[in-house]
Amino acid sequence: MNFLSLIESKREGKTLAPEQIENFVLEFTAGKIPDYQMAALLMAIYFRGLSTAETTALTLAMRDSGDVLEFPEDTRPLVDKHSTGGIGDKVSLPLAPLLACLGFRVPMISGRGLGITGGTLDKLDSIPGFQTLLPAEKIVEQVQQVGCVICGQTDRMVPADKKIYALRDASGTVPSIPLITASILSKKLAESLEALVLDVKFGCAAFMQTKAEARKLAKAMVALGNDCGVNTRAILTDMNTPLGRAAGNWLEVKESVACLEPTSRSRRSESAHTFTKSSQRGLTSAATAEGQASDLRSLVLDCAAHLLMQTKKSKSLAAARKQAGDCLDSGEPRRKWDEMLVAQGANLSVFNQKLALDHTASAVLELKSPCAGFVSKCDARLIGEVIRDLGGGRLTKESVINYDVGVDRIAKPGEAVQKNSVLARIHATGQSQAKSACARLKTAFEISAKPVKAAPLILEIIQ
Ligand code: URA
Repeated sequence: MNFLSLIESKREGKTLAPEQIENFVLEFTAGKIPDYQMAALLMAIYFRGLSTAETTALTLAMRDSGDVLEFPEDTRPLVDKHSTGGIGDKVSLPLAPLLACLGFRVPMISGRGLGITGGTLDKLDSIPGFQTLLPAEKIVEQVQQVGCVICGQTDRMVPADKKIYALRDASGTVPSIPLITASILSKKLAESLEALVLDVKFGCAAFMQTKAEARKLAKAMVALGNDCGVNTRAILTDMNTPLGRAAGNWLEVKESVACLEPTSRSRRSESAHTFTKSSQRGLTSAATAEGQASDLRSLVLDCAAHLLMQTKKSKSLAAARKQAGDCLDSGEPRRKWDEMLVAQGANLSVFNQKLALDHTASAVLELKSPCAGFVSKCDARLIGEVIRDLGGGRLTKESVINYDVGVDRIAKPGEAVQKNSVLARIHATGQSQAKSACARLKTAFEISAKPVKAAPLILEIIQ
């Protein structure tokens, strides 16, 4: 292959043939194309873009650069969710066991966090004994037996993405919609899915900060997913405010388990929830205790409901949501969570002892409201930065994470607070770290004298 002429073609804005794309993915993965030439091609793609056919060819070639999970014939559809990431986004944790109880198989291959955004695997690593690195045979076996697995990508899955992403990271070519789409979907397609729901976030703490950018990415991923034979939908969600009331690895596991606990009657009203373009964050008075955030529950149910619709297991979104809510309230998904933990090596009694602790970090400090009023701002980016600097996130890929630090009892926009009400609780490695985090967090919150309406959690559905 004359790789130089391929770079020149893309530089001139020409369209590459699927065979050319398949070839360069194969050769680059095999180490036969030098990084400097591949970086030049990536930069040409960054500026010139890729057509739908080119992006499809790239995605499929990347998927086929390694192992694709193979599952036996089964009536249970294979489904998954992918989120573009944000602060407090722990949806995957309760969603996987819920989906398994709804009759799906869920091979959820997840990633680690970098920067302010948390990663599902980091959260799971805070569970004593839980194994996230599993060989492909074990992933398939667990999905067949338990119904769900949440684990990392094996070394043999989508190696092309690993190499290309590292080069994009070092060559300023990450923010390219066709490259992002191919990167995300090649990994999801290697799970052999029937349906996929994408949670594409916008806002100050999101990968795509504006609604327009997030919509563009969502549309590209939905079109590509469907083109590649996976029924794909996207939910555009707000990431100006953290999801739920806790952020930080172990604190998010605790909140996820709380989300799986069967709820009281007072919170069942979401079965009557109507699907509009703007479902509210829905933080009711019943959602006051730590770990009881109804925006988290709401998004978990929405993701499950869409997958029920996409796989034709339900006739309407309202019925699907009720089905998902009833299932969550049955307590079955909570038991499925334990089953998944045991299957992946966790010691349940150690886990339950840890769960019973109020906190596992050395120091805990409350940030109190300076006045009475209504929370008008709770800045997810600032909260994410504070947690990262407390040691809960990575500054570089090599950083070692502290699983116990974070923020919980987060007061959310729209909520009424009294003077000295808790706006957030900081979990840190020591008093001085807690105090300096507390000082920084003060500016994350704004209190208004007048009632405030929370921004909708879901902006729109793209299908
Ligand atoms: N996440 C990915 O997996 N790939 C990208 O390109 C961007 C975000």
